[in-house]
This record gives sequence, structure tokens and C-alpha cells, in this order.
Amino acid sequence: MSILRHGSSRALPVATVGTLLTLATQSGPLDEFSRAEGAAEFIRSRTALRPEIALVLGSGLGEFAESLTDPVRIPYSEIPHFPRSTAIGHAGRLMMGRIADTPVAVMQGRVHLYEGHSVKDVAFPIRVFGRLGIRAVILTNAAGGISSDLHPGCLVLIRDHINLQGVSPLAGPNDDRFGLRFFDMGNAYDQEFREIAQAEAKRLGIWLGSGVYAALLGPSFETHAEIKYLQKIGADLVGMSTVPEVIVARHMGIRVLAISCVTNLAAGLSDQPITHEEVLEIGARVQKEFVALLSAVIPRIATQPA
Ligand code: HPA
Repeated sequence: MSILRHGSSRALPVATVGTLLTLATQSGPLDEFSRAEGAAEFIRSRTALRPEIALVLGSGLGEFAESLTDPVRIPYSEIPHFPRSTAIGHAGRLMMGRIADTPVAVMQGRVHLYEGHSVKDVAFPIRVFGRLGIRAVILTNAAGGISSDLHPGCLVLIRDHINLQGVSPLAGPNDDRFGLRFFDMGNAYDQEFREIAQAEAKRLGIWLGSGVYAALLGPSFETHAEIKYLQKIGADLVGMSTVPEVIVARHMGIRVLAISCVTNLAAGLSDQPITHEEVLEIGARVQKEFVALLSAVIPRIATQPA
């Protein structure tokens, strides 16, 4: 079976309003499932496009969304229950459109734990994508390079992670409608998707590394001692995002491809202090390669089985 959902391209009738009313009249606070369903219903009411793949664009990497055809822009502030991004370099809107023939939903910016959002809110958009019927997500981020073969401007496939954020979006009662209480994370960063990305990078002449991503809370960059520790425990990259989204995606059976853009050497590995401006500037410099790689990978991933 293909992950493509050969659904109708017609706009849904505005029965949506009925669903939203039903949700709104439930007594007590809505549970996460109902909130995700409410947000998904709202998105469906705004466009007839039924996305197959979702993308999350990290700091300084938002330009990819400009390559969508016939985009529909939905600010996060309009989507019920959706968290709002305050980080600089994050536009804070959902873009729905096509890359070649593949319908996609693209988040231009995400929210982070360091903004004060709960870990469930950070991962909530992935719940919504799951309810929209998406079977694959591509997560991107800016990261510090720890491994000696990484330097600013490198694109790197995440092949595994180390969660040092101290929280999981799945803590608390499990909702079986989303997924199982306990599940395997062995192939969380889908091997077939990584092989496709490597093959497309090679074809395009783009250097694409592979590494283990350590997620920290932030917002301060790391101390030199923390980076030495991360080196010892096997991390190649360090950042402040992505891991909660991956956990929730795998909980829902959504396949994951994740790509970091190395924007700086990790703390203590160069003489220069790390700045957010540098992170955004390097992101902007690799946009061309990044857009080319994603545009080549998306149609191939869309033909993969669920
Ligand atoms: N550390 C954490 N997060 C980051 C970094 C870093 O060095 N660069 C970009 N995001």
C-alpha cells in the first residue's frame, strides 16, 4: 500500500462546523485527541488539499515553504488549540500546497520547550498531522556540530537521538486512539527514508552527513563541559527541538526523516562565541541546497509504503 491517500480533492462540506460544535459542547476541558481532531477539522475546512507528508522547518530554514505551488497560508494563531511560536526566525504559519505532485503541509517554524510551552504542546502539531492522515513527517532543525567532520553549513541526517530534555510528550495516561503505551524506537529515524535522502543528495552533489542528535532544553547554548560530555556519550549534533515531535510521530505510526543544518561548531570547539544571528545566517546560506534536497526527497518518500 502506498502512503498516498487517494482521497477526493473536493473541499469537504462544511459539516466541519457540526464537528466543531460537538467538540465545543463537550463538558469539561477537551482531551488531546479531541483537540487534535478539532484542529485537523479546521485545517480541512480551509483547504481541499489533503496532505500526504508534513514538514517542520527549523530556525532560518523557512524559505522552503516558498517553493510550494498554490499555497494556502494559515497562521498558527487561527488554528484552534495550536501553540504559537515566539522564536525569532520562525514565521509561525502552516502552509498547505504541493511539491511537484505531492500535497504537503509545511510548518514555517515550531514552538520549543524553552519558550515555556509544555512538551505536549510542542508535539501537538504532529498529533494534528496524524489526524489529518499524514503518514510521513520531515523534521528539520538548526544544530551545533560536535563531531569533527561537521562544520557550519553541513546538512546531516539524524540517524538516532539522545533525549536530554528530561521530559516525554507521552508521560501521563496513554490514549490508545493515538498509539500503544510502549513501543519500539529502534527505527525511529526511518532507514529507508535515510537511504532515499542519501541517494538524492549524491545525485544532486550535496554532502549529507549522518549523526546522533542530542536534544537539550536550552535556551542557553551549552557549556564547554556539557559539549565534552555529549562527545563522550556519542552525540554528533546538539539542538533544542525535534525529539518530542519524533516520539509523538512514532507513537502514531508516522514515519520520520529528520535533517539538521549545522549552523555552528558546538560550544568550545571554536574560539568564537555562539550567537543566534550566526544560526540564522548559516541557515539562510544553505537554503538553496536544502530546498533542492527536500524537493527531490519528497516525491520519493510519497511513494513509500505506510
Ligand atoms: N546548541 C544548541 N542548539 C543549537 C545550536 C547549538 O550549538 N546551534 C543551533 N541550535
